[in-house]
Amino acid sequence: MGYSAPRGTHDILPTESHRWRSLERAFEDLVSLYGYAEIRTPAFEDTELFVRTSGDTSEVVTKQMYTFEDKGGRSITLKPEGTAPAVRAYLEHGLGQQGAVTRLWYATPIFRYERPQKGRYRQAHQVGLELIGSESPAADCEVIEITVRFYEALGIRGLRVLVNSLGREETRARYRAVLLDHARPYLETLEPDVRSRYERNPLRILDSKDPEAIAAMADAPRVLDYLEEASKAHFDALRGLLDEAGIEYVVAPEVVRGLDYYTDTVFEVQSTSLGAQSALCGGGRYDNLIHEIGGPRTPSVGVAMGVERALMVQEAEGVDVAAPTPRAFLVSATPEARAEVRALARSLRAAGLACIIDLDGRSMKSQLKAADRSGAPIAVLIGTDELAARTATVRDLRTSTQKSVPRDSVVEEVRRA
Ligand code: HAM
Repeated sequence: MGYSAPRGTHDILPTESHRWRSLERAFEDLVSLYGYAEIRTPAFEDTELFVRTSGDTSEVVTKQMYTFEDKGGRSITLKPEGTAPAVRAYLEHGLGQQGAVTRLWYATPIFRYERPQKGRYRQAHQVGLELIGSESPAADCEVIEITVRFYEALGIRGLRVLVNSLGREETRARYRAVLLDHARPYLETLEPDVRSRYERNPLRILDSKDPEAIAAMADAPRVLDYLEEASKAHFDALRGLLDEAGIEYVVAPEVVRGLDYYTDTVFEVQSTSLGAQSALCGGGRYDNLIHEIGGPRTPSVGVAMGVERALMVQEAEGVDVAAPTPRAFLVSATPEARAEVRALARSLRAAGLACIIDLDGRSMKSQLKAADRSGAPIAVLIGTDELAARTATVRDLRTSTQKSVPRDSVVEEVRRA
């Protein structure tokens, strides 16, 4: 019996890994411009960290965590998201001393036991940011701006930026009561899953995809009308800053997010090119989270972007990402030429020029075929005549023309090709 990758996971093959690298590089280049430094955290954490931070009523915690007991009897969970591990590390290593702002970025796999479908996996990948230690709406704006610039750098168009504010404890308590009143008459018509949201976290009825729930909540009161003064001022200031940055957005009261740690600002970016899984990323402010896990009150904001979804949109929108190809394929026309071909390969690589050689003493014909398949623009042939004359034959594989070049000039010739 053959093995296959576990359900909900996927291999990233050589034919697509360059797209991943290119995305990750674009992200790193961009966030470096804003002063973010990379953090890498373990693939697993103590289960309690996620229960405490994502919220014990969140779907991530109730249904999706990969939790197991290790041989030492500890409850361990594969990280379902990157924020809690990043702030755990921030606290553990005292990264935020002197009350300074700390800017972190990461690229990480995440693990969620979800029903797999296009754009939804059990091992997915995120690139993300955490801006820790600022309460200013300028911090929220910075994170949203980077997010939008990132998608632009990937060549993605068709973006929809949705922002909302969930307020703070007082807003939550007042709004919860209002929502419960609003949803009560519809309870019978709602799916059991949505009904259970009613009991556990009524806010989440708002982002249900169930058509009955969408209809029931269409004219629900908006959280924005229940914001405390400070939250309202924060949201207004953020809107002003987004306008100033030239970022188009819509205020979307239905954006409530699936993790419980958010306060005030929440946002998502959707793509008009994706179907059901249209959320490219999600983020927001989490001013209580660090305190929740034992640290001082530390206002913070962040975002995580799904790598698979960004790549799906790039493909759907026909964004071309060039695969790396060797600069030359070296062909030994006779067995005697092999040592010279190896020497030439060494000089090319020392000059930073990628090349491929035949290892198995194949015929010249099959080496030339391999040269064509390699994507290299040129083949460099060395045979008996070339050995004697200290030359090489440089064949342009795109035009099928060739010329003789002195052996000492081959490196320069390949560089120019
Ligand atoms: P999230 O909304 O749960 O937020 O995930 C962010 C993004 O990760 C989603 O918009 C989606 O693109 C991608 N994603 C999540 N789950 C999957 C999956 N099963 N398959 C494919 N893609 C997926 C967070 O994770 C927060 N930590 C974001 C954050 C950072 N908030 C503050 N800082």
